[in-house]
Amino acid sequence: MIQHESIAAHGGQLVNRIATTDQRQEFLDKADHLPIVQVDDRTVSDLEMIAIGGFSPLTGFMEEADYQSVVNTMRLANGLPWSIPITLSVVEETAAPLKEGSLVRLDDAKGRFVGVLQLTQKYHYDKKQEALHVYRTNEEKHPGVNVVYNQGAVNLAGSIWLLQRDPHSKFPLYQIDPAESRSLFREKGWKTVVGFQTRNPIHRAHEYIIKCALEIVDGLFLHPLVGATKEDDIPADVRMRCYEIMLEHYFPKDRVILAINPAAMRYAGPREAIFHALVRKNYGCTHFIVGRDHAGVGDYYGTYDAQYIFDEFKPEELGILPLKFEHAFYCTRTEGMATTKTSPSLPEERIHLSGTKVREMLRRGELPPPQFSRPQVAKELARTMKVFTENQYEI
Ligand code: ADX
Repeated sequence: MIQHESIAAHGGQLVNRIATTDQRQEFLDKADHLPIVQVDDRTVSDLEMIAIGGFSPLTGFMEEADYQSVVNTMRLANGLPWSIPITLSVVEETAAPLKEGSLVRLDDAKGRFVGVLQLTQKYHYDKKQEALHVYRTNEEKHPGVNVVYNQGAVNLAGSIWLLQRDPHSKFPLYQIDPAESRSLFREKGWKTVVGFQTRNPIHRAHEYIIKCALEIVDGLFLHPLVGATKEDDIPADVRMRCYEIMLEHYFPKDRVILAINPAAMRYAGPREAIFHALVRKNYGCTHFIVGRDHAGVGDYYGTYDAQYIFDEFKPEELGILPLKFEHAFYCTRTEGMATTKTSPSLPEERIHLSGTKVREMLRRGELPPPQFSRPQVAKELARTMKVFTENQYEI
């Protein structure tokens, strides 16, 4: 088979910060003598993303110069585009005894030793400024802003090592790290690959824009986010079953790779669209889908703000091409999925349901119509709804 070179990772080199066997042993030997910082799941997923190269060129949590530059200009201090701060924030009491220049042991919420930070800097930061620049609002009810407001006041910065790469507890089969996705694309001979970010159960508008994109590239990297999401988003295991069902019935298997994106959701709309694209570039994608209100929440962002923001960069400095799609719907006049670019329909001839509406229907025991959701997916959602009706969680 003809092999081809993958596109470069962001910044040129795919980062690998997973400790080698020797490093790991060294860290384990020191473990009892290192200061410990306990980090939440969100930080563990950032640690993981840095270590596997998903956040290349970052090798750790941002120092102040990068942080300020990212918040204010959407670039790292060296000028490379980067739109979301990646920080490890702790409370004053935790930061105070830590010495710059030392190693810090990072434990997860369950007290397991998961990584090491080479602490190079501790700094205070302005939460409101981060909220206004990154999230375009300082309202505490915005789920991304809420996380910032509730985290510690001091950022710990420096390179990290992930102690070891464990198989994902729920989706080991779909744990495909950037080095592996790149080699899979090469094996398949795909020169162009479109990445698809999603945090919702797959519906027909998703399917439509994915398939429109797939018509012009060699392969699809279906890359649902399974890191932390807000409470009322549908849990990842339910969503993964829906993607499996879709692949089983509605996609040609040799054109699609389904893999999990372990990152946490920020809900930063436009800024997060840039970030999502750069992450998929690191996985080896050449193209990235940006539809309506990408990574948005409530009505904080305009429908196409996440598309306009790409115009603030030169295509070559991003190095991944956004494929922009208008709001897609089922059109009763042309009897197919469409957008206003492809159908002359009147508003009343367009069927589009919001996620909230679908959740309400499912709660009433109704299935979303086939124009919105493939029946097998609708059934799976309804089944889950029934299992979890006892208010264990809302779907
Ligand atoms: S997101 O937070 O990950 O963006 P979601 O899973 O709903 O949420 O969306 C995944 C991708 O599909 C995003 O690029 C989004 O813009 C796009 N998208 C979702 N619904 C539609 C739609 N009806 N029409 C066009 N694009 C859509």
